[in-house]
Amino acid sequence: MHNYHALFSSTKLANKTLKNRIVHASMTTRMGVNGGTTEQHLQYYKNRAIGGAGMIVTEPLSMAPHQHIPYKIVAYDNSHLSDLEKWAESVESEDCRLLGQIQDPGRGRHQHGRAFNAVGASALPDDLSGTIPRVLTTVEIRQMNTQFANSSLRLKRCGFSGVEISAGHGHLFHQFLSPWSNIRHDQYGGDLVNRCRILHEMIDEIRQVCGYDFIIGLKLPGDDGVIGGINCSAAAEIANHLTINKDIDYITFAQGSHARSLEMHVPDDHEPRFTYRDLFAQLKPFINNITLMALGRITDPAEADAIIQSGQADLVALGRSLVADPAWPLKSKQGRSAEIRYCVSCNNCWYMGAAYQQKISCDNNPTVGKYNEVDYWPPITPLRKKVVIVGSGIAALEAAWVAAAKGHSVHVFGSSPVVGGKLAIRSQLPGGESMSSIYDYQYATAMRAGVHFKLGYSAELIDITALNPQVVILACGATMAPPRWIPDDIRQGGLVPDLRSVMDEFIKKPKKQVGCAMIYDLDQTEGTYASLEYLKNYFDEVHLITPYDCIGSETSLVTRQGIQRRLSTRGITITTLTEPVWSDDIGEGYIDLKHVYTNQITRVKNLSLLTYSTPRVPNQTLLNPLLALGFEVHLIGDCLTPRNVMAATQEGYEIANTI
Ligand SMILES: Cc1cc2nc3c(=O)[nH]c(=O)nc-3n(C[C@H](O)[C@H](O)[C@H](O)COP(=O)(O)O)c2cc1C
Repeated sequence: MHNYHALFSSTKLANKTLKNRIVHASMTTRMGVNGGTTEQHLQYYKNRAIGGAGMIVTEPLSMAPHQHIPYKIVAYDNSHLSDLEKWAESVESEDCRLLGQIQDPGRGRHQHGRAFNAVGASALPDDLSGTIPRVLTTVEIRQMNTQFANSSLRLKRCGFSGVEISAGHGHLFHQFLSPWSNIRHDQYGGDLVNRCRILHEMIDEIRQVCGYDFIIGLKLPGDDGVIGGINCSAAAEIANHLTINKDIDYITFAQGSHARSLEMHVPDDHEPRFTYRDLFAQLKPFINNITLMALGRITDPAEADAIIQSGQADLVALGRSLVADPAWPLKSKQGRSAEIRYCVSCNNCWYMGAAYQQKISCDNNPTVGKYNEVDYWPPITPLRKKVVIVGSGIAALEAAWVAAAKGHSVHVFGSSPVVGGKLAIRSQLPGGESMSSIYDYQYATAMRAGVHFKLGYSAELIDITALNPQVVILACGATMAPPRWIPDDIRQGGLVPDLRSVMDEFIKKPKKQVGCAMIYDLDQTEGTYASLEYLKNYFDEVHLITPYDCIGSETSLVTRQGIQRRLSTRGITITTLTEPVWSDDIGEGYIDLKHVYTNQITRVKNLSLLTYSTPRVPNQTLLNPLLALGFEVHLIGDCLTPRNVMAATQEGYEIANTI
């Protein structure tokens, strides 16, 4: 058993005690409504406090009137004082310090289209949305800083322990710091001292108004990945300048910018753990011995402990890891790290908010913000039933463990000898390794809860009826639909297999092959592109063709940036707006591709593998026979409607809670 002594040692910031070194990094939850908190919003934060974090940085607040958007909690006037008080009380009462975040997107905008009300340092377009901001005047900058200071005081009076200024991620303050986005000629532009002035004055004002028993943290760019922006040595100068008079209590560094380097701020499974370890080491000597908070893909307690123990940093910030499991600190401290639901760095939490404006959610946590989220284990049901689940993928396993934990007698049939379903294939492809922890957790917990497994066995109707269950849950997944350009007789013959079968075979028996592998892509999700990367290790050439005008349209922007970068680096050919034309020449290694709008034909030679990744059709063969026999049957996950991991975990959890 590990006790992680360094990680769980206490420390002080601005004379306030932090019981341990674990900090919840700021993440937009979109759980607020009309400028105020909601039950779920308060519960989300309370859960992270009960779960054992020593300090929580909130999502960005409305600290000035121009920042008002409904899901941001208002702190610029007294209209939501009681919400702020409740929020502080619910977190601080768990011996967890609460810091409000000051942030402004400036010209940065994730959603499609331009932001017409954006303000900024200079009238230069945002690198992603093209938004040109209205330039803030010097008077407006000073007014804004005064508003931030007054709002900070309001937070202090409501019971908050401090504020964090988010000056990275390509947002407004970063836009002032970077010569790429700041071409002002007044005292807020030009040399480094001038570009830092907005932050210097903000920190000074907050300190004057809130005093020294109030934590002020600063998140700065460490390396923004923008040519002409802030690289490591520029970041060192900025950090040195802003910490020299020691008016802030801690510092951390975010990577990437609101540009083609956005992916850097939420490193995924293609990147090493604590991705920016070396960068933090290079910046540490320049921060004038201010408390340093490590950040970026820290998922494991042993690693977090080692960061503190070895002096690489004094605090460890966890963003996505605490979305996946708010009890991460508690379980680590109790020697139960095997029971943590680990972050798999899939970035779907970010995707749901940035692309769909939805509340924060997680592939590996179906209970985000629920009252019983921390160390979730369902109460025993008075009505115990026999439940048969067909399938052993993510949806099936979630349903199985929760139903068994409730006291039901649960029998799982899985046709594959291993659990995890299609995710077990994905986890063996590039950038998928962490995914296995989703089903590892589910399987281990299901065993603990007493689920009976029969794996490597395709259940027939008779196997189910023989058990005479009160409830049957079909979670048998879905199969890729063969594209219509393959003639009917060929479809049956298996000459063109689907991508999943191909990858399953290849993973079992990888072999070098001459010629070209071609994937026809109607799927547009990450697994298809990971397969391309994998196949590139074994084929001379790898092609992706799609009738769409882009690739990765079913992935988040931060995921897509990495996909584009890797496919290009590896020399994988991508042809959009194209479909194959079927001919017998395919057997001879030739394939004709037709432009979908002009019908123009191009010929590719040396074809040795042709496969397709397409929308999937649910596997529901057992449904009608079971219904005809009068069984209560539920469909979940892809077996209901093919979607993603998040939907699968969610539906598994929900069905187990309704039976
Ligand atoms: C869903 C999501 C929302 C985020 N929102 C914010 C934000 O509003 N302000 C901010 O400073 N950082 C934000 N971040 C960045 C995190 O604070 C953190 O820097 C990043 O996730 C890397 O840490 P991690 O690897 O521990 O998740 C967000 C990250 C995620 C995943």
